[in-house]
Amino acid sequence: MRVYEVATFYTMFNRTPVGKYHVQVCTTTPCMLRGSEEILEACKEFCKGDPNFTVNEVECAGACVNAPVLSVNDDYYEDLTRDDVKHIISELKAGRKPKPGPTEKSGRFSCEPAGGLTSLTSKPYGPGFKVRKEL
Ligand code: FES
Repeated sequence: MRVYEVATFYTMFNRTPVGKYHVQVCTTTPCMLRGSEEILEACKEFCKGDPNFTVNEVECAGACVNAPVLSVNDDYYEDLTRDDVKHIISELKAGRKPKPGPTEKSGRFSCEPAGGLTSLTSKPYGPGFKVRKEL
């Protein structure tokens, strides 16, 4: 019973076999507000009938700032649209690995604010700033 409780609580434990590509779509609130329902439907549509793909809906993947997010095995794909999902799945079907991370059109390198920096925008002060001379 204890094993069953753990296996059913954590989504990283699969109680049934999964395909070569385990596609996990986050549908928790931040991703939902940014269109994860459409992303999930697109995944189901483009993966339908291919045993290499298993599509699951999961709770927060921990990349909310780049919502909506999906993962394929160990790689995250972020700032997604329906067209991005189509591209990712078709690349995987062709045996290629699409570049993980935020989509290029998002303009992000990682998880910086989409609209540009809003804090820490000035040059950092050097050592000793506002420290008394005798110290
Ligand atoms: S809510 Fe989707 S990654 Fe956190």
